[in-house]
Parts: sequence; structure tokens; C-alpha cells
Amino acid sequence: MDLSSITVYANGKFCRYDEAKVGLLTHGLQYGTGCFEGIRGYWSPSERELYLVLLREHYDRLKTSAKILMMNIPHSVDELIDLTVELSARNRFETDIYIRPCIFKAAEDIGVRLHNVPDAFAIIPVPFANYLDTSKGLNVCISSWRRADDSMAPPRAKITGLYVNSALAKSEAITNGYDEAILLSHDGHVAEGSAENVFLVRHGKLLTPDPSQNVLEGCTRRAIMDIAASFGVETIERSVDRGELYAADELFFTGTAAGIGYIASVDRRIVGDGTMGPITRMLGETYQRAIRNQDPLWSHWLTATYASKTKATV
Ligand SMILES: Cc1ncc(COP(=O)(O)O)c(C=O)c1O
Repeated sequence: MDLSSITVYANGKFCRYDEAKVGLLTHGLQYGTGCFEGIRGYWSPSERELYLVLLREHYDRLKTSAKILMMNIPHSVDELIDLTVELSARNRFETDIYIRPCIFKAAEDIGVRLHNVPDAFAIIPVPFANYLDTSKGLNVCISSWRRADDSMAPPRAKITGLYVNSALAKSEAITNGYDEAILLSHDGHVAEGSAENVFLVRHGKLLTPDPSQNVLEGCTRRAIMDIAASFGVETIERSVDRGELYAADELFFTGTAAGIGYIASVDRRIVGDGTMGPITRMLGETYQRAIRNQDPLWSHWLTATYASKTKATV
């Protein structure tokens, strides 16, 4: 990906990607002491508009992650929303995008800690199509790696260093011929995918691990529960056994990058008949319409980029 022409927000100003540098000894790089968000923007060719999805929800979560890591984001959530719209407009994107806000410990010295270390904040947007191929069913495995436990480092915070846990699981799955992994918690209950929450459908009800199961409290997870409720489908949040995955009628992942991805098999056991189930389809199609501003019921999730901005240049 050619990043040189992208405008980012770093060190309190808009600049070219190449102009924003971090030093080799930066704490965030050496110790994984940072946190981040992943936000999607969807381009509507007919409206010539770029819709940013669930901005407030993502920035609320970033604030929580930062607090856990003793960091202070130098902007309110409203300011972060305005900055992100401004940044998207400056880039004049006419494609689907992914936006990566991040805050990290910026000291360049030796000595791991959270206290008395200055922070640096940046927002980096990039053109982005699909993260997972969700047009076909995903073949997933249960990872031999366990999800990090809250008593070690809290998974409800989107902490950069915690993603080594996801990377180990994802690469193990791919090199063993699967598309994705599901990680169990240390106590053997289902947690989540490497970068997705997981949902089961059984007897017409939705089931997903509750937030105490070492999961990230996904924005898409919440959105899907809201869509399900609008169709009268109840979601039960509780601890989920591995065997329940094998017994499920339908299984799917949710995530900002991944969208809604249906799972065709777990540990080589076919889910349902291996095709996308009716509830997954109903929720997934509604979500797709919602994020592309085709369903007024969910338009409050979206922030238009160009309607509120003149196209600025850097
Ligand atoms: C570990 C993990 N779980 C779940 C999710 C899904 O969260 P969201 O729907 O907010 O993208 C993500 C993606 O950010 C993730 O990295």
C-alpha cells in the first residue's frame, strides 16, 4: 500500500504519513504500551459521500482503553469525531476506508512502566476493502492459544501489546489450513476470534460470550444485538462452552474490519448445513444496508464526511 500520499493527524497537526515519525526506542513499540481503534468508512458512489460508522462508540472505547493504560487523550470525544471527519475530508477518499486512531507511550528510554511517560496520539486513515473473505463460509479451529485473561492484561481494552495473542492464534490457524481461530479463555470457555466477536444461533436465539469472558466489547457486537432486537430476536450473553459451538445451528463473527462473517465449520465439524443460516443472513444483510446508509432506522450510526466539510487541502 502506498501511504506516502495519505494525510494523517499526529502530534497535534495534520501532516503527510511520511512526515510523522516514531523513534526506535519508543515505549509503545518496545513494550506494546499503546491502545488503538479500528473504524470503518464506506463510500457511497450514488451519494458521493463517505459514511464513517459508529464513531462515538469507537472513541468512547478508546477513552476507556487509554484510562486503563494511564494515558490521556488530548481531545474530548466530540473533538475526536470532528478531527476524524476533517481528516477523512482532507484525504478526499472516494473508496471504503479503515481509520486507525492510536495513543501510545512515547518516551524513548529504557524502563517498562505506565506512569510518568508522555503519550503521543495519532489518527491514520487508509483505503481498505475486505479483511476476511466473508462471501464464503469460514473454516475455523479452536486455537491452542488461550485468550489473555483480565488478570494478566484486560482484553476489554484494545491494547497493542495484547495483539501478540491474536497474532499467535491467527497464524497458527492459517498455517494449519483454516481461515480463522476462536480462542478459549484460560478456564476453557469460548472467548472470541483473533479480531472478532463470536455469536451462536441455537433454537432461534442468539448467544454470545458476556463481557466478563475476556472479550473486547465489540462495537459491531452491540450493533448486531440491536439489529437482532429490532427483529424480535433475543440475545443471551453468558459463558459459552466449546461443545456449544459444535452444536450450534448457525455461527458467525462480528467485527469492524471483518463485518459479519459466517462460519461454515469449527474443528472440521460442519455448522448447520455449511451454508449461511437464515438469522445470520437477516442480520448480516441489515448490517450491510445500515453501514451504507440504506436503512434509515440505523442512520444515527453514521457520520457523513463531505456533507459537513468543504474539501480542504493540506
Ligand atoms: C480481539 C477483538 N475482538 C473483537 C473485535 C470486534 O470489535 P469491533 O466490532 O468493535 O470491531 C475486534 C476488532 O476490533 C478485536 O480485535
